[in-house]
Amino acid sequence: MKLYKQRESWNSRIGFISAALGSAVGLGSIWRFPYVVGQNGGGAFILLYLIFLALIGFPILITEILIGRTAQSSPYGAFRTIGKSKYWGYLGKVTIITGFIISSFYSVIAGWMLGYLIEAIKGSFSSIDGNSALSYFNSLSSSSIWSVGYHFLFLVICASILFFGVRKGIEAKSKIMMPLLMIVLLILVVKGLTLPSSSKGLKFMLSLNFKDITPAGVLIALGQAFFTLSLGQGTMITYGSYLSKGEDIPKSCFPVVLLNTLISILVGIAVFTIVFSADLNANSGPTLIFETLPIVFSKMAFGRLLSILFFILVVIAAITSEISALEPVISYFIDEKDYSRHKATIIASTGAFLIGIPSALSFGLLKNFTIFKSNFFDIISFFSVNVFVPLGALFACLLVAYRWKIKKAFEHLKVKDIAFIHSKPIFSVYFKISVKYIASVLILFILLNVLGIF
Ligand code: PFF
Repeated sequence: MKLYKQRESWNSRIGFISAALGSAVGLGSIWRFPYVVGQNGGGAFILLYLIFLALIGFPILITEILIGRTAQSSPYGAFRTIGKSKYWGYLGKVTIITGFIISSFYSVIAGWMLGYLIEAIKGSFSSIDGNSALSYFNSLSSSSIWSVGYHFLFLVICASILFFGVRKGIEAKSKIMMPLLMIVLLILVVKGLTLPSSSKGLKFMLSLNFKDITPAGVLIALGQAFFTLSLGQGTMITYGSYLSKGEDIPKSCFPVVLLNTLISILVGIAVFTIVFSADLNANSGPTLIFETLPIVFSKMAFGRLLSILFFILVVIAAITSEISALEPVISYFIDEKDYSRHKATIIASTGAFLIGIPSALSFGLLKNFTIFKSNFFDIISFFSVNVFVPLGALFACLLVAYRWKIKKAFEHLKVKDIAFIHSKPIFSVYFKISVKYIASVLILFILLNVLGIF
């Protein structure tokens, strides 16, 4: 059995919460959440998403953090140690590769956001309208130099944070960036709420039209709950491995779920009040942020400043998530190959850059390179987010519930946590039922659906 070097750890609970929250709040909360809410009926969809977060998101987050904290190693070593076989280790490797692949195309979209921030600073949106917004977005995203260039620049920013390690890099930067993100978000929410007919946006978010919920919508809500908490891709296991043995896991994870949910809702309020105030549609899909919002900003007082703030918000959120998707690979190289952090960071980010290039070109040069009418970006993002993320979460549940056994796992929640569980037996029942039964069954449903069987 390999003996690992003493690993770095978070400096404080607040440090862990900032880093885990930084991972959770990203393009998923700011770019994807508003448009899937917009396409799936508003409030009823949000309610469903909240139920999934409580029912399985929170318990699986605790499960992943617990796996990492107990094993004190990357997801590969953690699965192998707790599963007591190299085959479980291979499943851990799958989760690391999933996070790595996600980091490759995540950086492409984040690069667009960075590019849009620069355009906002240049004032390019000041006279944009319905027709020009679409052609503007198409001309930028189809430009190879623009897409690959910003993908590269974004990764350089992330690598420069990861270079400094867990405390001085991830933790220190997250502790600055998350409060900044909150301030910018609150400014946008206040602005949104004070716009004429902002109530239309609020009404949309609070509408409980359950007839608008389709079976596909249910699965999208479930997938969103996984993706937003960065589950199933090695990230939370790795972040858990930097958590000290004395920390209370449920108490450290609860604020992450709560604040992430609050931030998604606030983003929804900001986006929908702004979009509805201009009498535009909220169901434009993935281009909601790239087309619809710039049109609104162009018509608003202080629109240029607000568009700059908005894209700063998205870029900060994307940086703290991207670094968390790359960290499992880095931690694997450090643990298993004895690489220095610098060498591991350079290899991981260069790899993400190279693998991300076909994704960056999928909207221009490689547009016609399609399989079943889907381009490279569509295929790689579909399979990693819809198949491998739920699979990774399923592996963690199976490991804890059926290999390690819930009772044994509980003992490793450590002294303070055991006191917490004994004082709240309802918590242990909730955790057990969720991880052992509900999560596994729901994940199987997702997979069968994705494969077209259900
Ligand atoms: N939770 C992030 C978001 O909602 O944008 C996405 C994410 C982070 C995905 C980290 C993957 C990952 F490893």
